[in-house]
Amino acid sequence: MSTMNTIVTESPEEAAEFIRSGRVAAFPTETVYGLGADVFHPEAVDQIFEAKGRPADNPLIVHVSSNAQVELVSADIRPYAVTLMQHFFPGPLTLVLEKAARIPPRVTAGLDTVGVRMPRHQVALAFLRACETVVAAPSANRSGRPSPTSWQAVLEDLDGRIPCLLKGGRSDMGLESTVVDCTGHVPIVLRRGAVTCEELRTVIHDLQTLDEADNRSARSPGLRHRHYAPRGKVMMVKNPPTDPPRHSGYIGLAAPRDEGAFVLHRVCRDLRAYAYELFDFFRACDASGIQTIYCQLPPDTGLGAAIADRLRRASESHG
Ligand code: TXA
Ligand code: MG
Repeated sequence: MSTMNTIVTESPEEAAEFIRSGRVAAFPTETVYGLGADVFHPEAVDQIFEAKGRPADNPLIVHVSSNAQVELVSADIRPYAVTLMQHFFPGPLTLVLEKAARIPPRVTAGLDTVGVRMPRHQVALAFLRACETVVAAPSANRSGRPSPTSWQAVLEDLDGRIPCLLKGGRSDMGLESTVVDCTGHVPIVLRRGAVTCEELRTVIHDLQTLDEADNRSARSPGLRHRHYAPRGKVMMVKNPPTDPPRHSGYIGLAAPRDEGAFVLHRVCRDLRAYAYELFDFFRACDASGIQTIYCQLPPDTGLGAAIADRLRRASESHG
């Protein structure tokens, strides 16, 4: 792929002009940065896959800025899905719904369902409104890499590969949206994320998670793929190691006894801070050439379950 000049702007209108002219633009959201294209412009959607090096069988989430746009992209919305939208839209929740025929197949990797999300980030909403269309957007990283939680991280992966980046602050969640399949009798969480299962269950009591349901990879194609991985080897640990090898990093809730034993370390005051820091820390470790990244396994509740999921998949990537 030939390199291009990547324009970095703080103007949602300027970035939206790229989408309106059939090109791609990266933009901030409250979860992670996304790489957007007009859903109804197939060549623009192709540019997302090309810039990321994303496998074509991994469907994209579509981003809306109004309820009217939800109706435009989906068909036959179940009552519990309406309830979820009433409580969690706008926000870090993606609902998998039956797709409207007008969405081109390459957006959804040929599936008859579509993931729909309405971000609550003010810059994201201003950008989406200015696009005057629905915007397909995966996380704005090279495929397989940790999702970008800052504009600098987007440039690290995509400088010269995308024409525009809408620059905002650090993503306040730092972890991707929760993906919930809303096509069956009960909702099923396909990907844990920034909205916790506990929060969802306050509204929908019979919500299931994928471990309880069957057919994991068929339901969420993205789960098959390598994910979230820094170059260093990710090691999950119960407690901070006391005698790590050279060139190690550590992130977790507990402070290591000897902080000086690590090239880089981050002690997070709670799960929210852990989620906020994790992908940024992975990238900082790569920038320092750290070979082994020790990550404390968080408790399996709330955001801890989503963090643990990302850690597992980042550690599996090294086989
Ligand atoms: O927070 C987020 O969700 C961010 C921001 C930019 O919105 N986006 C994001 O997109 O994380 P991406 O493409 O990196 O992850 C989307 C996940 C993938 O695992 C994909 O397989 C799954 O959602 N997904 C998308 N559409 C689906 C569908 N129709 N059925 C099942 N899974 C779907
Ligand atoms: Mg992603």
